[in-house]
Amino acid sequence: MKLKVQPAQVQNNLLSEQLVWEVSRRRNFAIISHPDAGKTTLTEKLLLYGGAIQEAGAVKAKKAQRSATSDWMAMEQQRGISITSTVLQFEYREHLLNLLDTPGHQDFSEDTYRTLAAADNAVMLIDAAKGLETQTRKLFEVCRMRQLPIFTFINKLDRPSLTPLELIDEIEQELGLTTYVVNWSIGTGDQFRGVFDRRQQRIHLFQKTAAHGSKKAADTVISLGDPRLESLLEPELYHQLKEDLELLDGIGSELDIEAIHQGKLTPVFFGSAMNNFGVELFLEAFLDYALEPTAHESNQGEIPPTYPEFSGFVFKLQANMDPKHRDRVAFLRVCSGKFEKDMVVTHARTGKTIRLSHPQKLFAQDRETVEVAYAGDVVGLNNPGSFAISDTVCVGERVRYPDIPSFSPEMFAFLKNADPTKYKNFNKGVSELQEEGAIQILNSTDESKRDPILAAIGQLQFEVVQFRLLNEYSVETRLEILPYSVAQWVTDGWEALEKVGRLFNTFVAKDRWNRPVLLFKNQWNLEQIIADHPDLELSPIALPP
Ligand code: G4P
Repeated sequence: MKLKVQPAQVQNNLLSEQLVWEVSRRRNFAIISHPDAGKTTLTEKLLLYGGAIQEAGAVKAKKAQRSATSDWMAMEQQRGISITSTVLQFEYREHLLNLLDTPGHQDFSEDTYRTLAAADNAVMLIDAAKGLETQTRKLFEVCRMRQLPIFTFINKLDRPSLTPLELIDEIEQELGLTTYVVNWSIGTGDQFRGVFDRRQQRIHLFQKTAAHGSKKAADTVISLGDPRLESLLEPELYHQLKEDLELLDGIGSELDIEAIHQGKLTPVFFGSAMNNFGVELFLEAFLDYALEPTAHESNQGEIPPTYPEFSGFVFKLQANMDPKHRDRVAFLRVCSGKFEKDMVVTHARTGKTIRLSHPQKLFAQDRETVEVAYAGDVVGLNNPGSFAISDTVCVGERVRYPDIPSFSPEMFAFLKNADPTKYKNFNKGVSELQEEGAIQILNSTDESKRDPILAAIGQLQFEVVQFRLLNEYSVETRLEILPYSVAQWVTDGWEALEKVGRLFNTFVAKDRWNRPVLLFKNQWNLEQIIADHPDLELSPIALPP
């Protein structure tokens, strides 16, 4: 009997069935928050409930030894802050979650922006006592720009807080984001009694956990109609709850998954990460409402995640994560097809062929070799200098994903090599850190000033560069801070600049591609130049050529 389908086709069909299944079970997300809102705590508790760790304790350890599970570098440990992004993968029920961890410190927002370019969903974590804070607002704007679905987790309800209505109101009014309350807080602070879960119409009673909830907590659940409820809650809380629920059902928004996926409606959760309270409820609902990996825009049109050919883009580079091996890793977000260890791919920018050997999955200090990965996953690739931020790698037809915009620097300083005999190490270190995207480097147009100019978003970026040059390249450096705070690229180049002649109060520098960049003392100076030279085309950011 003649076969209707040929073996190759059978294989293709099997692959596509597997692709569809693998993509549909994946959910990828990043947490955005202001430092101290509890991101480390929530991350850990998600891992605890996802079974990736058996016991949480990194926050405690962070306090004791100034180190945490997702911290790598010695400097992070000294300061107890999280600088580098890590990617944590865990399974929950039949789903596979990828948590793209973002640096908490505000000076590292550039890395966070890049990580958000690789994320499909964002979790906005808010401290219930403080409400919206600056870093959260900034990052929210990036999410909005990318139209990411946003889930809101309001944390620390066990402490004196704003009222749930005040918090909801702030999100709606200040961010212009419609909310859909998934669970509702019953009391706050000393009077925090639990949450009402609107999905199951049940009340989860709050219990403080021992040891900051290092182990999973017992969950006591009763229905709304349970006669015990009235005796379990103080009379005013009981009445408040009844009133609130009527209000929510009466004037609150409807659940609209489409609007969540478009980033227009945020599901809201209340809880206490430290006490493991509300974490599982959050996970359950998140899996139902979050966006699975979707199509990515490319120069060849939209590439769906189930497209059979593999493709992905680099969103972060990191050097020397393991001090024992002095290595470099490029983080690749898989966008389509099936990634396999040792596969041969095309590097879209250069057209070169590369074998992807030693791919890694990173879980804090531990590394595992990745055999396969699908859309929504992140793979760490050994990067012997071949990758830059935004590079696409693919199999088959050469696709290119759009460049991730880099943000306009606001602080500038000459970087001086304190020991001229170490000039080789100095140059190597500076060039590697620039390539990695740790910092932008500019140069003076004045030939007598050879020192590179560090261009950063925040002060801490300077310190990291100096620290890493010393630790990884054995070079001591000094900074000479420049009195500028605004950078603008001249979009039509040197000729345009020559035409306008001498500019006052302005520093003329060039970027790594020899394009002119003007540095201004302040916004006012910039506006003056714009007014005086209407023909000059300026832009606060520039994409790689
Ligand atoms: P971050 O990564 O966003 O910077 O925050 P992190 O998780 O480190 O949490 C910051 C502080 O907030 C920690 O306290 C942490 O224990 C506390 N925290 C996190 N979630 C909750 C919560 O649900 N309720 C309460 N009451 N606190 C919470 P710390 O001062 O660093 O240490 P410790 O007081 O826990 O010893």
